[in-house]
Amino acid sequence: MWQKTRFTEAVGIQYPIIQGPFGGGFSSTELVAAVSNAGGLGSFGAHNLSADEILSVTQQIRATTDKPFALNLWVSVVDEGGEGLDEAGYQSAVEFFQPYYDELGMQAPGMPKDHVEQYEAQVEALIAARPAVFSFVFGIPSAEVLARCRIAGIKTLGAATTVAEAKALEAAGVDMVLATGFEAGGHRPSFIKRAEESLVGTLPLVPQVRDAVGIPVVAAGGMGDARGVAAALTLGADAVQLGTAFLACAESNTTDQHRDLIFDTAADETVLSRAYTGRLARFLPNRFVADVERVKAFLPFPLQAWFTTPLKKAALKAGKPELASFYAGQGAPLLKYRRAADVMGALTDGVTQIFNKPTNT
Ligand SMILES: Cc1cc2nc3c(=O)[nH]c(=O)nc-3n(C[C@H](O)[C@H](O)[C@H](O)COP(=O)(O)O)c2cc1C
Repeated sequence: MWQKTRFTEAVGIQYPIIQGPFGGGFSSTELVAAVSNAGGLGSFGAHNLSADEILSVTQQIRATTDKPFALNLWVSVVDEGGEGLDEAGYQSAVEFFQPYYDELGMQAPGMPKDHVEQYEAQVEALIAARPAVFSFVFGIPSAEVLARCRIAGIKTLGAATTVAEAKALEAAGVDMVLATGFEAGGHRPSFIKRAEESLVGTLPLVPQVRDAVGIPVVAAGGMGDARGVAAALTLGADAVQLGTAFLACAESNTTDQHRDLIFDTAADETVLSRAYTGRLARFLPNRFVADVERVKAFLPFPLQAWFTTPLKKAALKAGKPELASFYAGQGAPLLKYRRAADVMGALTDGVTQIFNKPTNT
């Protein structure tokens, strides 16, 4: 029975399939509940929520499912040099973005606000909320937080983009590791070397991580149908995490335009770039990304996002997709379904068929 793995046993779910969390407001409680109710593990990306919002989202999820679910945080939310800008730095950033602000008829944002550290309060709220799983990216929570999760019965799942990161997570006492290949949509959550130096594909990464650590391994990146899931399980994964496939569903909190683009031939091509946030992420290519890449105009995270977030919103409003960001992974062209229950049904039936197929046929 392919369904029964170390991951499903530890978390208490029917199928080893996780709906990946989405930051940036793309998660929805409806999507989490749909996936958890279908026997998978729904996840809510909470890195941009306050402590109170985390508690209220948890209540909303529990109102629609009594099944296990995951809450997700970013351990680090400021890169080196990303704390703030002096006047000269601000002026030169505005100068770079001004043609786009002019094109969209908008004002440049003011001086970036001082960073307010939310992570500590978010972790407190998360432990109080007691999700079945605390998944995280961009680092490793403190030993104290990991110990408190253990006492609270919360399983921890940390993202790795390399074998070295997977080993570091295991050594710190994290319960399970997400091996995420560079095919994945969204940000590259590397935390030891630069993301550009940590671009391993899912196919080589998963078996290497499986060989290197003793804790359960979850594979992510590039899976769009049952063949990818069966392949990842065959490579040694104890579970899989799909993001783009669920982002494309009606229950996610993205726009219809984004969903349609994921199902369009536009998604045949995706790029990795720091253009929108200052951290490397995969999305659909467009004029803005090409321009920023040409001159490598990247401010450290989260400063780049400070200047591009209002620009993206204005671009969407003005119907200018060439300036807006649309996240997607390399598996997008494989996608067929627009409801989370249909994605789950196709994956579980498909994997069962693949593993039940007699050999030599
Ligand atoms: C729009 C978007 C936002 C994401 N935000 C987060 C996040 O906040 N935290 C996280 O751990 N993973 C995040 N991810 C990664 C997904 O949870 C998942 O691991 C990844 O999408 C899997 O690769 P796939 O897109 O090829 O299926 C995000 C992915 C996308 C597409």
